[in-house]
Amino acid sequence: MTLKSFLIGMFASFGLAWLCMIAIPTAKMASLPPVKMSGEEDAEFYQRKTTGRVLNGAQIYAANGCYTCHSQLIRPTYLGSQIFRKDVAGVSNADADTRRETHYDDYRGEEYAQLGLTRMGPDLSNYGYRAEAYAARTGMTAEQWTVAHLYNPRNEELQLGEQGEEIDMSWSNCPSQLQMFEDKDLVGQGDSLAININTTAMTQVVPREQARVLTDYLLTLKRDSALPESMNNAPQNAGAAATK
Ligand code: HEC
Repeated sequence: MTLKSFLIGMFASFGLAWLCMIAIPTAKMASLPPVKMSGEEDAEFYQRKTTGRVLNGAQIYAANGCYTCHSQLIRPTYLGSQIFRKDVAGVSNADADTRRETHYDDYRGEEYAQLGLTRMGPDLSNYGYRAEAYAARTGMTAEQWTVAHLYNPRNEELQLGEQGEEIDMSWSNCPSQLQMFEDKDLVGQGDSLAININTTAMTQVVPREQARVLTDYLLTLKRDSALPESMNNAPQNAGAAATK
């Protein structure tokens, strides 16, 4: 190998990756202004913007009637405090305490405010946090857990107790979204989100694009931006107290 081809090879392996993954995205996104919390010039707080895939996921959520059973509203304290319910109003651990009630700014940028009609299933305002906790307990990723739950909410392996014991989920009436999955031939190790990989028949069940987009949306559900207007029941310095 000549030095010249070696150098060209080096550039192709590292330079192109650097160009596509760092230089181009930085150039594209560096000038995106953050979204201000209110229209005021000196508004202090910012909120992430709901766009792209997440917005598409919200549309699929709406189209499939998930809101009929799932609310996305942590009630104001005068209607019954929910701050005490584990991981419902936010998380509370040594590093952070994000528990707070919902504020109308939480729905900013969404096409529909997914308040929900009933609360037959758990409130999903902070599902993103819970998914991470379930995933850690079951040894999956949060994405895999969510996809597996969309496929079969009665799957007992998904819900493990504190000691790792299986919990009876045969009662779950969360509808399985089979229409969002398809059978495919097994290639290599299979899709990372595949369910029922069958190495004898060489088949796998993979989520269609809508299940993937819906999952991405569900995993962004974390109502944790700091909102001065929203009542926050987390005691100041809760983190410091917990580490003592
Ligand atoms: C008929 C009512 C009903 C509908 C409609 C419904 N769900 Fe559920 N859902 C439930 C119930 C009940 C549970 C709790 C039992 C369980 O975990 O399966 C649940 C649990 C969940 C969970 C796990 C939440 C957690 O923290 O444990 C997710 C995620 C979820 N549903 C997503 C959806 C999505 C997405 C849709 C729309 C495609 C949907 N659900 C439609 C009733 C419903």
